[in-house]
Amino acid sequence: MIRWIRLWGTIFGLSGVALVALTNKAVIWSSSNAFCGTFCDSMTWASAGYHQGPHFINGSGVGASCGQCHIPYDSSHAAATEYVKMLLFKAARGAKDFWNESHKTIATREEWEKRRPQLGAEFDSYLQAHNYITCRGCHVLDAFGGPRSQMKVLIHKDIIKANDVGCLRCHRDVGHVYEQPVAKVGGWYTTEEAGSGEKKTTGSLEF
Ligand code: HEC
Ligand code: HEC
Ligand code: HEC
Repeated sequence: MIRWIRLWGTIFGLSGVALVALTNKAVIWSSSNAFCGTFCDSMTWASAGYHQGPHFINGSGVGASCGQCHIPYDSSHAAATEYVKMLLFKAARGAKDFWNESHKTIATREEWEKRRPQLGAEFDSYLQAHNYITCRGCHVLDAFGGPRSQMKVLIHKDIIKANDVGCLRCHRDVGHVYEQPVAKVGGWYTTEEAGSGEKKTTGSLEF
């Protein structure tokens, strides 16, 4: 009898672990850029805008993925209840996306342009309602420092004090840049210096 209990206990235990591992895999896969940006045709333009934005390409080579900005708790470590909330969010979001994708509600650029303001506004109000949780999973507003960050410290100090952190009010284009390529890609050299450096090394370095 004890043996049976032990055996079934082990089977249940192991399948529990396998289920959690699989769920986690599905969560990671369905939050990835490959899934969000290319799996659904309707995301073609959002994805192109993301590739021109500062969270895909920037001075430090550290970016953010679609899911890290769009899915709560993806950019921070979720506690158990938060993990459940995230699964529920993904299920609801996924059902909506599946409906839209299979009904081809956004199949052309014109349809996308028409829908974009509404989709953007929806996401904006989602972020507002959740206190910009995804942004703040990575950016800690009172952690800016150093002599070149005075302005950031000052401006963010006021909004932290007022407890009104509407990031998008001031940082509208952080996720997607549709019109022009990324305006500011930081680096150690001016464009001219980088250009002449390129000339100097062209042909003289062999790897
Ligand atoms: C740095 C965070 C960030 C990343 C990374 C990001 N987004 Fe966004 N996304 C935003 C923000 C902020 C908005 C709202 C912009 C606005 O108010 O118009 C937005 C808006 C959208 C919209 C609505 C249309 C629009 O442009 O307003 C879609 C669809 C979207 N994102 C999909 C994606 C997909 C797919 C990816 C990955 C390929 C992605 N996002 C990556 C932050 C991000
Ligand atoms: C996964 C972590 C992560 C998430 C989520 C994230 N960011 Fe970022 N963000 C970064 C990194 C990394 C950089 C690049 C830092 C650099 O340039 O060295 C950055 C850059 C920025 C910049 C500077 C952009 C520029 O033009 O140089 C702003 C502003 C910003 N993020 C705001 C936001 C906002 C608002 C959100 C939420 C919609 C957000 N971030 C979500 C990690 C993240
Ligand atoms: C009232 C406007 C305002 C709001 C609201 C605001 N910021 Fe900023 N933020 C700024 C300004 C202005 C700068 C640029 C300061 C500078 O150039 O030194 C900045 C700089 C940044 C940077 C660094 C960019 C860089 O180039 O180094 C990040 C990251 C950032 N903000 C994230 C956020 C996040 C995340 C939120 C919301 C939680 C937020 N900000 C809310 C005005 C704002």
